[in-house]
Amino acid sequence: MAGKIVILGVFVADTAYRADRQPRMGETILGNSFALGPGGKGSNQAVAAARSGGDVHFMSRLGDDDFAQMALKTWADAGVTAAVTQDPDSFTGAAYIFVEEATGNNAIIVCPGAAGDISAADVEAQRDLIEGASVFVTQLEQPMEAARRALEIARSSGVRTILNPAPAAEIPAQMLALCDFVTPNESETEGITGVPVKTLGDAGAAADVLLSMGVGAALITLGEQGVLYKDREQSVHVPAVVAGPALETTGAGDAFNGGFATALAEGKDPVEAVRFGCAVAGISVTRAGTAPSMPSRAEVDALLAAETSKD
Ligand code: RIB
Ligand code: NA
Repeated sequence: MAGKIVILGVFVADTAYRADRQPRMGETILGNSFALGPGGKGSNQAVAAARSGGDVHFMSRLGDDDFAQMALKTWADAGVTAAVTQDPDSFTGAAYIFVEEATGNNAIIVCPGAAGDISAADVEAQRDLIEGASVFVTQLEQPMEAARRALEIARSSGVRTILNPAPAAEIPAQMLALCDFVTPNESETEGITGVPVKTLGDAGAAADVLLSMGVGAALITLGEQGVLYKDREQSVHVPAVVAGPALETTGAGDAFNGGFATALAEGKDPVEAVRFGCAVAGISVTRAGTAPSMPSRAEVDALLAAETSKD
Protein backbone atom coordinates (compact mmCIF):
# COMPACT_ATOMS: atom_id res chain seq x y z
CA MET A 1 0.00 0.00 0.00
CA ALA A 2 1.15 3.49 -0.79
CA GLY A 3 2.35 5.60 2.13
CA LYS A 4 0.97 8.90 3.33
CA ILE A 5 1.96 12.15 1.66
CA VAL A 6 2.08 15.18 3.95
CA ILE A 7 2.30 18.59 2.30
CA LEU A 8 2.91 21.89 4.06
CA GLY A 9 2.02 24.98 2.07
CA VAL A 10 -0.28 27.75 1.03
CA PHE A 11 -3.74 27.95 -0.47
CA VAL A 12 -4.71 31.14 -2.25
CA ALA A 13 -7.57 32.04 -4.55
CA ASP A 14 -6.15 32.49 -8.04
CA THR A 15 -7.56 35.47 -9.91
CA ALA A 16 -6.40 34.88 -13.48
CA TYR A 17 -6.59 37.61 -16.12
CA ARG A 18 -5.98 36.70 -19.76
CA ALA A 19 -4.88 39.62 -21.90
CA ASP A 20 -2.72 40.29 -24.96
CA ARG A 21 -0.12 42.01 -22.82
CA GLN A 22 0.45 43.43 -19.34
CA PRO A 23 -0.52 47.04 -18.66
CA ARG A 24 2.28 49.53 -18.23
CA MET A 25 2.43 51.55 -15.00
CA GLY A 26 -0.38 54.12 -15.02
CA GLU A 27 -2.16 52.40 -17.90
CA THR A 28 -5.48 50.53 -18.01
CA ILE A 29 -6.12 47.96 -20.73
CA LEU A 30 -9.05 45.68 -21.50
CA GLY A 31 -8.47 42.01 -20.83
CA ASN A 32 -9.96 39.06 -22.71
CA SER A 33 -11.23 36.94 -19.82
CA PHE A 34 -11.12 36.41 -16.09
CA ALA A 35 -11.30 33.30 -13.94
CA LEU A 36 -11.40 32.79 -10.18
CA GLY A 37 -10.31 29.42 -8.85
CA PRO A 38 -8.33 27.55 -6.23
CA GLY A 39 -4.54 27.95 -6.29
CA GLY A 40 -1.43 28.31 -4.15
CA LYS A 41 1.55 26.09 -4.77
CA GLY A 42 1.19 23.79 -1.78
CA SER A 43 -2.54 23.34 -2.26
CA ASN A 44 -2.11 22.75 -6.01
CA GLN A 45 0.50 20.10 -5.26
CA ALA A 46 -1.84 18.47 -2.75
CA VAL A 47 -4.66 18.38 -5.31
CA ALA A 48 -2.33 17.02 -8.01
CA ALA A 49 -1.04 14.31 -5.67
CA ALA A 50 -4.51 13.28 -4.47
CA ARG A 51 -6.12 13.30 -7.94
CA SER A 52 -3.25 11.20 -9.28
CA GLY A 53 -3.80 8.61 -6.54
CA GLY A 54 -2.01 9.74 -3.37
CA ASP A 55 -3.20 9.66 0.25
CA VAL A 56 -2.63 13.35 0.91
CA HIS A 57 -2.72 15.41 4.10
CA PHE A 58 -2.35 19.18 3.72
CA MET A 59 -1.04 21.44 6.51
CA SER A 60 -1.84 25.12 6.27
CA ARG A 61 -3.57 28.17 7.70
CA LEU A 62 -6.60 29.96 6.31
CA GLY A 63 -8.68 32.97 7.22
CA ASP A 64 -12.39 32.54 7.94
CA ASP A 65 -13.90 33.93 4.74
CA ASP A 66 -15.26 33.01 1.31
CA PHE A 67 -11.85 32.01 -0.05
CA ALA A 68 -11.43 29.66 2.94
CA GLN A 69 -14.69 27.98 1.91
CA MET A 70 -13.26 27.59 -1.59
CA ALA A 71 -10.17 25.93 -0.09
CA LEU A 72 -12.16 23.49 2.05
CA LYS A 73 -14.38 22.54 -0.90
CA THR A 74 -11.37 22.09 -3.21
CA TRP A 75 -9.72 19.68 -0.79
CA ALA A 76 -12.92 17.78 -0.05
CA ASP A 77 -13.58 17.33 -3.79
CA ALA A 78 -10.01 16.17 -4.48
CA GLY A 79 -9.88 13.84 -1.45
CA VAL A 80 -7.20 15.84 0.36
CA THR A 81 -7.36 15.56 4.17
CA ALA A 82 -7.03 19.06 5.62
CA ALA A 83 -4.86 19.67 8.70
CA VAL A 84 -5.53 23.40 8.78
CA THR A 85 -6.29 26.08 11.31
CA GLN A 86 -8.50 29.06 10.54
CA ASP A 87 -7.62 32.49 11.82
CA PRO A 88 -10.68 34.78 12.02
CA ASP A 89 -8.44 37.83 12.44
CA SER A 90 -6.60 37.26 9.18
CA PHE A 91 -7.68 36.50 5.59
CA THR A 92 -7.24 33.74 3.07
CA GLY A 93 -4.70 34.74 0.47
CA ALA A 94 -5.09 35.53 -3.21
CA ALA A 95 -2.89 35.62 -6.27
CA TYR A 96 -2.97 37.98 -9.23
CA ILE A 97 -2.14 35.93 -12.32
CA PHE A 98 -1.56 37.58 -15.66
CA VAL A 99 -1.76 35.04 -18.50
CA GLU A 100 -0.38 36.18 -21.84
CA GLU A 101 -2.95 35.18 -24.45
CA ALA A 102 -0.55 34.23 -27.25
CA THR A 103 1.76 31.99 -25.21
CA GLY A 104 -0.12 30.93 -22.06
CA ASN A 105 2.86 32.18 -20.04
CA ASN A 106 2.23 33.98 -16.78
CA ALA A 107 3.38 36.56 -14.25
CA ILE A 108 2.11 36.27 -10.68
CA ILE A 109 1.79 38.23 -7.46
CA VAL A 110 0.87 36.02 -4.51
CA CYS A 111 -0.33 37.31 -1.12
CA PRO A 112 -0.40 34.32 1.27
CA GLY A 113 -2.67 35.96 3.88
CA ALA A 114 -3.11 33.80 7.00
CA ALA A 115 -0.71 31.20 5.59
CA GLY A 116 2.00 33.85 5.75
CA ASP A 117 1.81 33.45 9.54
CA ILE A 118 2.49 29.71 9.63
CA SER A 119 5.18 29.35 12.28
CA ALA A 120 7.66 26.70 13.33
CA ALA A 121 5.44 26.20 16.41
CA ASP A 122 2.42 25.48 14.16
CA VAL A 123 4.49 22.85 12.39
CA GLU A 124 5.68 21.41 15.70
CA ALA A 125 2.03 20.97 16.70
CA GLN A 126 1.65 18.63 13.69
CA ARG A 127 4.80 16.61 14.42
CA ASP A 128 2.92 13.30 14.60
CA LEU A 129 1.37 13.82 11.18
CA ILE A 130 4.76 14.51 9.59
CA GLU A 131 6.41 11.59 11.38
CA GLY A 132 3.74 9.24 10.07
CA ALA A 133 4.35 10.21 6.44
CA SER A 134 6.13 8.29 3.75
CA VAL A 135 6.83 11.46 1.75
CA PHE A 136 6.87 15.09 2.95
CA VAL A 137 6.61 18.03 0.53
CA THR A 138 6.91 21.76 0.99
CA GLN A 139 7.56 25.00 -0.94
CA LEU A 140 8.49 28.55 0.04
CA GLU A 141 5.22 30.51 -0.05
CA GLN A 142 4.87 30.19 3.74
CA PRO A 143 7.70 31.38 6.00
CA MET A 144 11.03 29.61 5.48
CA GLU A 145 11.30 28.82 9.22
CA ALA A 146 8.13 26.72 9.07
CA ALA A 147 9.38 24.84 6.02
CA ARG A 148 12.70 24.25 7.67
CA ARG A 149 11.25 22.90 10.92
CA ALA A 150 8.99 20.54 9.00
CA LEU A 151 11.93 19.27 6.94
CA GLU A 152 13.91 18.71 10.16
CA ILE A 153 11.08 16.69 11.69
CA ALA A 154 10.64 14.66 8.51
CA ARG A 155 14.36 14.00 8.13
CA SER A 156 14.78 12.94 11.77
CA SER A 157 12.09 10.29 11.38
CA GLY A 158 13.26 8.93 8.03
CA VAL A 159 10.48 10.49 5.95
CA ARG A 160 11.55 11.26 2.38
CA THR A 161 11.64 15.01 1.82
CA ILE A 162 10.84 17.06 -1.28
CA LEU A 163 11.47 20.81 -1.36
CA ASN A 164 10.01 22.75 -4.27
CA PRO A 165 12.03 25.95 -3.75
CA ALA A 166 9.38 28.28 -5.16
CA PRO A 167 9.04 31.20 -5.30
CA ALA A 168 12.77 31.82 -5.69
CA ALA A 169 14.51 32.64 -2.41
CA GLU A 170 17.87 32.42 -0.75
CA ILE A 171 17.95 29.07 1.00
CA PRO A 172 20.40 28.28 3.81
CA ALA A 173 22.68 25.35 2.95
CA GLN A 174 21.67 23.55 6.17
CA MET A 175 18.12 23.54 4.90
CA LEU A 176 19.06 22.14 1.49
CA ALA A 177 20.94 19.38 3.27
CA LEU A 178 17.62 18.25 4.80
CA CYS A 179 16.19 17.52 1.33
CA ASP A 180 16.18 14.20 -0.46
CA PHE A 181 14.80 15.91 -3.56
CA VAL A 182 14.77 19.57 -4.62
CA THR A 183 12.70 20.59 -7.63
CA PRO A 184 13.61 24.10 -8.84
CA ASN A 185 12.77 25.47 -12.29
CA GLU A 186 15.40 27.24 -14.40
CA SER A 187 15.29 30.62 -12.64
CA GLU A 188 15.01 29.16 -9.15
CA THR A 189 18.01 26.97 -9.95
CA GLU A 190 20.01 30.01 -10.99
CA GLY A 191 18.95 31.82 -7.80
CA ILE A 192 20.22 29.00 -5.60
CA THR A 193 23.35 27.94 -7.51
CA GLY A 194 24.36 31.04 -9.46
CA VAL A 195 24.42 28.91 -12.65
CA PRO A 196 22.22 30.33 -15.44
CA VAL A 197 20.20 27.45 -16.89
CA LYS A 198 19.35 27.49 -20.60
CA THR A 199 20.52 24.10 -21.85
CA LEU A 200 20.55 20.56 -20.50
CA GLY A 201 24.28 20.94 -20.00
CA ASP A 202 23.71 23.99 -17.81
CA ALA A 203 21.13 22.05 -15.82
CA GLY A 204 23.66 19.25 -15.25
CA ALA A 205 26.25 21.73 -14.00
CA ALA A 206 23.70 23.40 -11.70
CA ALA A 207 22.57 20.00 -10.42
CA ASP A 208 26.17 19.28 -9.43
CA VAL A 209 26.22 22.48 -7.38
CA LEU A 210 22.96 21.45 -5.67
CA LEU A 211 24.42 18.02 -4.89
CA SER A 212 27.53 19.68 -3.44
CA MET A 213 25.18 21.75 -1.22
CA GLY A 214 23.92 18.49 0.27
CA VAL A 215 20.67 17.66 -1.51
CA GLY A 216 20.05 13.97 -2.22
CA ALA A 217 18.90 14.56 -5.78
CA ALA A 218 18.28 17.59 -7.99
CA LEU A 219 15.23 17.58 -10.24
CA ILE A 220 15.54 20.65 -12.44
CA THR A 221 12.30 21.37 -14.25
CA LEU A 222 12.87 22.79 -17.73
CA GLY A 223 9.38 23.43 -19.09
CA GLU A 224 9.09 22.02 -22.61
CA GLN A 225 12.46 20.30 -22.19
CA GLY A 226 11.16 18.16 -19.35
CA VAL A 227 13.22 17.45 -16.24
CA LEU A 228 16.87 16.80 -15.55
CA TYR A 229 17.18 14.29 -12.69
CA LYS A 230 20.59 13.95 -11.07
CA ASP A 231 21.74 12.17 -7.93
CA ARG A 232 25.14 10.82 -6.91
CA GLU A 233 24.76 7.71 -9.09
CA GLN A 234 22.96 8.84 -12.21
CA SER A 235 21.98 11.75 -14.40
CA VAL A 236 18.84 11.22 -16.46
CA HIS A 237 17.01 13.56 -18.83
CA VAL A 238 13.28 12.82 -18.72
CA PRO A 239 11.57 14.56 -21.68
CA ALA A 240 8.30 16.41 -21.20
CA VAL A 241 5.20 14.30 -21.81
CA VAL A 242 3.00 16.10 -24.33
CA ALA A 243 -0.75 15.59 -23.94
CA GLY A 244 -1.89 18.35 -26.32
CA PRO A 245 -1.42 22.05 -27.04
CA ALA A 246 -0.62 24.20 -23.98
CA LEU A 247 -3.46 26.45 -22.87
CA GLU A 248 -2.11 27.61 -19.49
CA THR A 249 1.20 26.61 -17.95
CA THR A 250 0.47 28.15 -14.52
CA GLY A 251 0.69 25.37 -11.94
CA ALA A 252 2.60 22.96 -14.20
CA GLY A 253 5.40 22.81 -11.65
CA ASP A 254 2.85 22.01 -8.95
CA ALA A 255 1.36 19.26 -11.10
CA PHE A 256 4.84 17.78 -11.51
CA ASN A 257 5.64 17.93 -7.79
CA GLY A 258 2.31 16.40 -6.79
CA GLY A 259 2.62 13.58 -9.30
CA PHE A 260 6.22 12.93 -8.34
CA ALA A 261 5.20 12.65 -4.67
CA THR A 262 2.38 10.23 -5.44
CA ALA A 263 4.62 7.96 -7.47
CA LEU A 264 7.37 8.05 -4.85
CA ALA A 265 4.88 7.17 -2.09
CA GLU A 266 3.84 4.16 -4.17
CA GLY A 267 7.41 2.92 -4.16
CA LYS A 268 8.30 3.81 -7.75
CA ASP A 269 11.97 4.55 -8.26
CA PRO A 270 12.76 8.27 -8.53
CA VAL A 271 13.30 8.35 -12.31
CA GLU A 272 10.03 6.52 -12.91
CA ALA A 273 8.38 8.94 -10.47
CA VAL A 274 9.76 11.88 -12.49
CA ARG A 275 8.18 10.43 -15.61
CA PHE A 276 4.85 10.09 -13.79
CA GLY A 277 5.14 13.71 -12.61
CA CYS A 278 5.85 14.85 -16.18
CA ALA A 279 2.65 13.14 -17.36
CA VAL A 280 0.60 14.89 -14.66
CA ALA A 281 2.15 18.23 -15.68
CA GLY A 282 1.69 17.48 -19.38
CA ILE A 283 -2.07 17.09 -18.94
CA SER A 284 -2.41 20.08 -16.59
CA VAL A 285 -1.02 22.56 -19.14
CA THR A 286 -3.69 21.64 -21.70
CA ARG A 287 -6.39 23.01 -19.37
CA ALA A 288 -7.22 26.36 -17.82
CA GLY A 289 -6.56 27.05 -14.16
CA THR A 290 -4.14 25.54 -11.67
CA ALA A 291 -5.76 23.13 -9.17
CA PRO A 292 -8.80 22.55 -11.46
CA SER A 293 -6.48 21.38 -14.25
CA MET A 294 -4.94 18.49 -12.29
CA PRO A 295 -5.67 15.12 -13.95
CA SER A 296 -7.16 11.99 -12.45
CA ARG A 297 -5.14 8.79 -12.11
CA ALA A 298 -6.99 7.21 -15.01
CA GLU A 299 -5.98 10.09 -17.28
CA VAL A 300 -2.34 9.87 -16.23
CA ASP A 301 -2.22 6.10 -16.71
CA ALA A 302 -3.83 6.41 -20.15
CA LEU A 303 -1.30 9.03 -21.26
CA LEU A 304 1.66 7.00 -20.01
CA ALA A 305 0.32 3.85 -21.68
CA ALA A 306 -0.06 5.75 -24.99
CA GLU A 307 3.52 7.07 -24.66
CA THR A 308 4.91 3.59 -24.00
CA SER A 309 3.18 2.12 -27.03
CA LYS A 310 4.83 4.86 -29.19
CA ASP A 311 8.35 3.65 -28.23
O1 RIB B 1 2.47 27.61 -8.97
C1 RIB B 1 1.32 28.28 -9.35
C2 RIB B 1 0.71 28.97 -8.18
O2 RIB B 1 1.58 29.96 -7.73
C3 RIB B 1 -0.60 29.65 -8.50
O3 RIB B 1 -1.71 28.83 -8.22
C4 RIB B 1 -0.56 30.90 -7.66
O4 RIB B 1 -1.47 30.83 -6.63
C5 RIB B 1 0.87 31.00 -7.12
O5 RIB B 1 0.90 30.79 -5.78
NA1 NA C 1 -3.35 24.45 -16.27
